[in-house]
Amino acid sequence: MKRGIDYVTLARRVRAHLGQEHRYAHVVRTARAADLLAARHGLNAPKARLAGMLHDLARLYTGARLIDECELRRIPIGAFEREHPIVLHAPLGAALAQEAFAVHDPEVLSAIAKHTVADAEMSPLDCVLYLADALEPGRDYPERAELWSLACRDLREAMRAVLANSLSYLARKKIPVAPQTLAAAAAFHVDRGRLPSLT
Ligand SMILES: [Fe+2]
Ligand SMILES: [Fe+2]
Repeated sequence: MKRGIDYVTLARRVRAHLGQEHRYAHVVRTARAADLLAARHGLNAPKARLAGMLHDLARLYTGARLIDECELRRIPIGAFEREHPIVLHAPLGAALAQEAFAVHDPEVLSAIAKHTVADAEMSPLDCVLYLADALEPGRDYPERAELWSLACRDLREAMRAVLANSLSYLARKKIPVAPQTLAAAAAFHVDRGRLPSLT
């Protein structure tokens, strides 16, 4: 019973923090998807759900605010992040999860921090949140359903496929790729022919 009340309180506070129903609905779907994937793979489902609820706390901040708030907390800002501050919502979200929601579990914080550009080193819980965020049912692209069923069967294969899919998308749209995403693609053995060259 206590957990139910806690979850409702958490959801209410996340909703107030986000201040936008569209983003809140995505967060709730991501939390559900993360819970399902974690349970499916014998991982800690409540941790996955918590990471899902808190993953986008800074997603609606402006680029200038993301940079200011990261500088304030001495969160490293690389050249890619300076150019594309939106990706900073992931590490800043992990900081906000600690400060505003008193969540200090390093596994949960790691999953939040890596959910946007991924990383060469991804724990199973990191993968669960990354995949849940990319594959929650509100995402609208043709491969989603197939990738979701792959994620239910095999987290690593799903990481490889989702990373490959994002790289193709970014290349098509001529959007630069974060170095961490390229490192993740190499770590998960994404076909090198699909890796765009760093510019
Ligand atoms: Fe995000
Ligand atoms: Fe998200």
